Amino acid sequence: MNYKAIQLAKRPSGEITPDIFEIVELETPALEDGQFLVKQTYMSLDPAMRTWLNPREDSYLPPVQIGEVMRSYGVGEVVDSCNANYPVGAQVIGVTGWAEYVLGNEEMQVVDASIDPETLLSVFYVTGLTAYVGVISIGQPKAGETIVISGAAGSVGSLAGQIAKAEGLRVVGTAGSDEKCRWLEEELGFDKAINYKTHDLAEQLDDACPNGIDLFFENTGGPIQQLAYSRMNRFGRIVVCGMIAEYNFEQPVPGPNWMDINLKGLRIEGFVLPDHMDKAQEASEALANYVQSGQIRFRTHVLEGLPSAIDGINLLFNGGNQGKLIVEL
Ligand SMILES: NC(=O)c1ccc[n+]([C@@H]2O[C@H](COP(=O)([O-])OP(=O)(O)OC[C@H]3O[C@@H](n4cnc5c(N)ncnc54)[C@H](OP(=O)(O)O)[C@@H]3O)[C@@H](O)[C@H]2O)c1
Repeated sequence: MNYKAIQLAKRPSGEITPDIFEIVELETPALEDGQFLVKQTYMSLDPAMRTWLNPREDSYLPPVQIGEVMRSYGVGEVVDSCNANYPVGAQVIGVTGWAEYVLGNEEMQVVDASIDPETLLSVFYVTGLTAYVGVISIGQPKAGETIVISGAAGSVGSLAGQIAKAEGLRVVGTAGSDEKCRWLEEELGFDKAINYKTHDLAEQLDDACPNGIDLFFENTGGPIQQLAYSRMNRFGRIVVCGMIAEYNFEQPVPGPNWMDINLKGLRIEGFVLPDHMDKAQEASEALANYVQSGQIRFRTHVLEGLPSAIDGINLLFNGGNQGKLIVEL
């Protein structure tokens, strides 16, 4: 059977442009013992994809190679199987690719078919696990502290803020539009949301954080980084989750002076989720509790059809996505 897939045709320089991808027709393979075939139903679009397109070999995952199907996370249904652990009809989630069909891999998890894929990709997989691990395991939050979250209206940021709220923190977020800020304050219960595109970001941050910042959950880089860093309290923690403002840059942005780290006893810790999968069970149970108790809400932004990924991925970089960005195949 033939199916559509999208391969990397060349590496981007700067922004992702459509010409770096090529839509191809491939044939589903004849299965060998232990293999299974997945029809992908929903695919996640993630900022990290931009980093997977760079040729660097020292990151947490190898680069996608020219001529390879673009890597993604996704949900699908097993439609053919020579592996008893992955029977036909099972719903699976894992690393897939920009393709209508993918050969399954043993890292894929079988998930309850009654849980809808949008919820899985928005809360119970990379997005939610990242928010939980970042805030709870790495951030070590204490009730009464102030957390600042950049990229707060995004998929990870909005969950991180709600988790911090549930843990009793004062939650301040930055986002790129007034509409996103209203959503954070009025629907998600953030104490304050600041549009980082306004001119008086420093004053607004001072007003929002009268007691300084104990925890900074960094999703973006950009101007908020230096402003938050210089307002950190003693023994503050900075959780470096992502740097989307810089993924398209050819040259790295200079970092901050280290004196505050020394004098204030700051801890700055970067992380990528794959290094923390030992926390997946704890995180999933906690996320389920937050959802059941109404402490976590989310929204999704769904695109239609595999080719929509090619232009759609840039919604993440221009702020056009309103919630977890997903492609329905
Ligand atoms: N460490 C990990 O394992 C891990 C896992 C998942 C994600 N992440 C990281 O977490 C961050 C958020 O990812 P996500 O999946 O939740 O995406 P997302 O926040 O749903 O979407 C990306 C958002 O980033 C904002 N943005 C884009 N360019 C920006 C800029 N120059 N300055 C400030 N904000 C900008 C946009 O919102 P505005 O409208 O607010 O600008 C956009 O909507 C990314 O940096 C990602 O790489 C890390």
